[in-house]
Amino acid sequence: MNGLVVEGLRAGYGAVNVLHDVSITVGEGEFVALLGMNGNGKSTLLNAIMGFVKPSAGSIRLFWDGQSVPLAGQAPHRIVDLGIGYVPEGRRLVPNLTVEENLKLAARGRAKNDFAENLDFCFETFQILKERRRQLAGTMSGGQQQQLAIARALMTSPRIMVIDEPSVGLAPIVVDQMIATIKELQTKRRMTILMAEQSFFQAVEVASRAYVLAHGSIVHAIEHGLDAEAMETIRNAMMGVE
Ligand SMILES: Nc1ncnc2c1ncn2[C@@H]1O[C@H](COP(=O)(O)OP(=O)(O)OP(=O)(O)O)[C@@H](O)[C@H]1O
Ligand SMILES: [Mg+2]
Repeated sequence: MNGLVVEGLRAGYGAVNVLHDVSITVGEGEFVALLGMNGNGKSTLLNAIMGFVKPSAGSIRLFWDGQSVPLAGQAPHRIVDLGIGYVPEGRRLVPNLTVEENLKLAARGRAKNDFAENLDFCFETFQILKERRRQLAGTMSGGQQQQLAIARALMTSPRIMVIDEPSVGLAPIVVDQMIATIKELQTKRRMTILMAEQSFFQAVEVASRAYVLAHGSIVHAIEHGLDAEAMETIRNAMMGVE
């Protein structure tokens, strides 16, 4: 099976350990939500997958086309080249470059060959980016900047998109649109998505499966059917009402 498999992951910052024995899988074509209130380790897990945080134990592997590639210990740009597109928390755009320049910067390695095709795809997915292609990224609205951050990851020709809290700082209606667009990447473009979110109502509506992180451990793995009972479990776990 193609996908990303994290097993027994332990990681943190210096002497402070944040993740304890974390195991998750993201299969090709799935939309997996990583839920948890703030400070519970969502970004740390995504940063470990992307190579920004070094695990002290466990493994992170990409299984694709019969190959198994260890990601832990590799540099972030290598991990992107292997097909993991990353949309960081807080977007991290280059504010004084234009929309198009931000997109161009992301196209490196094997994605350079797909540049024109990827740019068309981004502009087709996010019309506003096409209209505003010459506008400075820093002068766009929060929602537009989030679209640009997602488009930038699409420029790397990803197999899997790792998206960290796309809803942060956005008005509820904009959040709904954003999550719907990410969902379309999965359903219409057959993309594989791993998305961290605190605002779990929107996330569980679109996700195929979900994990709940609390104090750096996976306390619930909702394997299928995000029904009313699963919602209650998630709510209780996130609010710490066990
Ligand atoms: N660079 C860092 N150095 C030291 N500690 C950190 C660092 N980044 C995060 N932490 C700590 O690690 C823990 C988990 O933080 P993390 O950012 O992974 O949580 P999160 O679930 O993504 O939260 P949020 O929803 O607010 O983004 C917190 O206690 C946080 O203070
Ligand atoms: Mg975070």
